[in-house]
Amino acid sequence: ARVTLRQLLDHAAEYGYGVPAYNINNMEQGLAIMAAAQKTSSPVIIQASRGARAYANDLILAKLIDGLAELYPDIPLVMHLDHGNSEPTCMTAIQYGFTSVMMDGSLKADGKTPADYDYNAGVTKRVCDFSHWAGVSVEGEIGVLGSLETGEGEKEDGHGFEGKLDHDQLLTDPDQAVQFVKDTQVDALAVAMGTSHGAYKFTRKPDGEVLAMNVIEEIHRRLPDTHLVMHGSSSVPEDLQEIINKYGGEMKPTWGVPVEEIQRGIKHGVRKVNIDTDNRMAMTGAIRKVFAENPSEFDPRKYLKPAMEAMTKLCIERFEAFGTAGHA
Ligand code: G3H
Ligand code: 13P
Ligand code: NA
Ligand code: ZN
Repeated sequence: ARVTLRQLLDHAAEYGYGVPAYNINNMEQGLAIMAAAQKTSSPVIIQASRGARAYANDLILAKLIDGLAELYPDIPLVMHLDHGNSEPTCMTAIQYGFTSVMMDGSLKADGKTPADYDYNAGVTKRVCDFSHWAGVSVEGEIGVLGSLETGEGEKEDGHGFEGKLDHDQLLTDPDQAVQFVKDTQVDALAVAMGTSHGAYKFTRKPDGEVLAMNVIEEIHRRLPDTHLVMHGSSSVPEDLQEIINKYGGEMKPTWGVPVEEIQRGIKHGVRKVNIDTDNRMAMTGAIRKVFAENPSEFDPRKYLKPAMEAMTKLCIERFEAFGTAGHA
């Protein structure tokens, strides 16, 4: 059944678990996520970026979600807009049946310029007003996602700014977080503590210098009733890097966010954990393996089925690690 982000995260807070939010672009990813949810009896957050909406087409995406919800009537399902960047993007998502939207006003709508507080709070409040009228939840973001190692922030497409950002700009200021929640009435708050999108987050296993989980603990102390969101939370597992490289890929050595750090976040108010890269890697590794081992194969089902199975396996691992399993 379709639920809002607010309904699901209120439940998660009451029972002390976190919920992975998996990105979707196509049917295979949708089926893979739902199979994992069913196997572990987990509620799900499925999210589509602006890029996903353009890739799959809004109408196809909406009908796909209808199909998944009907196929798995017992699984609570949130359909969420990931990184909406304007009022119209959020409004049109609602028209297509999304039960939750993210208004990411941490950058101006050009996707380049870090926004000031008033811009971010203003646009996020306006999105909260119309979304809440429609019974839809809103996630906001305060602080710029990016790397404490390189000083590079992120644009919507995951590429860096030209200039360097200060260490402080890459970490959410707890005072600002408190003010932002008060000013906007967001249902969930994404915070910045050193993660970035994509596979290349850290050049070594992250410690407190580059992954500032203490920022989350401080924000949770100040905002105990606010559901926190971690973006850029793929763990970039070494075994998936190895599979990709073994079968002809060329990924450079890299580190993601260790599952234990996410579990620590969940103890301190993190309720939504965004994961896309890990699933992309799981699918790609499986597809590369089929291509390498069976070069004469050309039936898409022969590589998409193993790709779905690899993604389902990863989703099951995260549902279990975050305590989501058993809460459907
Ligand atoms: O926020 C980033 C997500 O991984 C979605 O990526 O914009 O390439 O669809 P995308
Ligand atoms: P990853 O690139 O770490 O999977 O992060 C995804 C994300 O934050 C989507 O909003
Ligand atoms: Na999001
Ligand atoms: Zn994100």
